Amino acid sequence: MAKSKTVFVCRNCGNEAPKWIGKCPGCGEWNTYAEEIVVRSGSSFATPFSSAGYSPVRLSEIDTSAQPRIDTQTGELNRVLGGGLVRGSVVLIGGEPGIGKSTLALQVALAMVNYKVLYISGEESAQQIRMRADRLGRSNDNCYVLCEVSLQNILNHLLQVKPDILIVDSVQTLQDEALESSPGSISQIRECAGKLMKFAKETSTPVFLIGHITKDGTLAGPKILEHIVDTVLLFEGDQHYLYRILRATKNRFGATAELGIFEMQHDGLREVSNPSEVLINQNNEGLSGIAAAATIDGIRPFLIEVQALVSTAAYGMPQRISTGYDVRRLNMLLAVLERKAGFKLATRDVFLNLAGGLRVTDPALDLAVIKAVLSSGVDKPVPKKMCFSAEVGLSGEIRPVNRIENRIREAGRLGFTSIMISGAYDKISLPEKDSIKIIKVNRVEEAVHHSFSQ
Ligand code: TYD
Ligand code: MG
Repeated sequence: MAKSKTVFVCRNCGNEAPKWIGKCPGCGEWNTYAEEIVVRSGSSFATPFSSAGYSPVRLSEIDTSAQPRIDTQTGELNRVLGGGLVRGSVVLIGGEPGIGKSTLALQVALAMVNYKVLYISGEESAQQIRMRADRLGRSNDNCYVLCEVSLQNILNHLLQVKPDILIVDSVQTLQDEALESSPGSISQIRECAGKLMKFAKETSTPVFLIGHITKDGTLAGPKILEHIVDTVLLFEGDQHYLYRILRATKNRFGATAELGIFEMQHDGLREVSNPSEVLINQNNEGLSGIAAAATIDGIRPFLIEVQALVSTAAYGMPQRISTGYDVRRLNMLLAVLERKAGFKLATRDVFLNLAGGLRVTDPALDLAVIKAVLSSGVDKPVPKKMCFSAEVGLSGEIRPVNRIENRIREAGRLGFTSIMISGAYDKISLPEKDSIKIIKVNRVEEAVHHSFSQ
């Protein structure tokens, strides 16, 4: 007879306690404990996939040569995974509802024609999935669909179908019948993910798990999952814009600095292998309030357009509204502009927008933000084919940013003829040094003066 008990589980880190406690001793978070009913059946840890078990082996004797990466047929996904999918790895794709996780997963399933892919959905019916596949305009005879939420049934099917790739959409809908708690609860997610992990490791089958993250982050699943899985990819972007960014926040088989960019179209996600070309509008030349920033997200340099609009405040309190850029940082830059460059903004509204609905936290955007604001304020365009890449400090100093060579090279590649950077670099080693003019500035005042004097 299985024994039933009630435990309190931390939604943040999964710590268990016999009674409710306000502050989690595991992660230090407050008010994260929720009650869970757990039934531990004796067979819970039986292995259905292999009876042999493991025995210790010498590290040096472990064979890694037979571990070629699997090509997912999606360049941007391969890039984020660190060069392709590793056999037996569990990849969690997290993101807010409606961002395109199911679309990405199905698209990958349909693209991998040489592999037997099993797509398990607990959210959509087989017809819905078929309709989506039709919408994507692709088909793959090797792609199997199973609409099931019971973990036991899924494991049985896995033993029969023996897929090469498994996709589970979503892990929150799975239910292990040995546990009484509802699907999506911490113990369910932990147990289900744990068993799928075991399946992945014992059969060397890569598994994609899709996980929801709500806006306020209350759903615990993905947090706990992050500890279990090998790779965590976050799919982000603004639903009202087309661009989606796939970012690795944990990767046991590669760097987390990589990022993949997609564009959501009516027939699925298109890979954006050259982001700068879509984020910079070449026709905007000559318009005021626009400045291009050479930025790096992860290790990928790209150029992005910063757009600003400065107008007279209609009401007493001027507005500072920013999309894609931290509004506190914008306020700080405006204060620097006011103090150091004498640019009065106290009675003006300032709106700031990054092209494509992207959210960029790279401090190298600062100088472009200042330039865009100034350009809109004086209603003069920034010089043609000029871009910017520097951080601005509180006392108006222009500070250097990392990997400046990569940024300059990317700007040059895109046809920019000059780039304004900090004067603090000793030496910049660029092979094609002459192709782009480097303008070094040390203070905001210099940058302001430079901008419209040409
Ligand atoms: P979906 O993959 O269902 O999101 P998630 O699984 O993350 O909840 O995608 C949701 C949105 O994507 C939906 O609002 C419609 C849009 N979409 C397109 O714009 N084009 C397409 O080809 C598809 C399939 C979806
Ligand atoms: Mg979905």
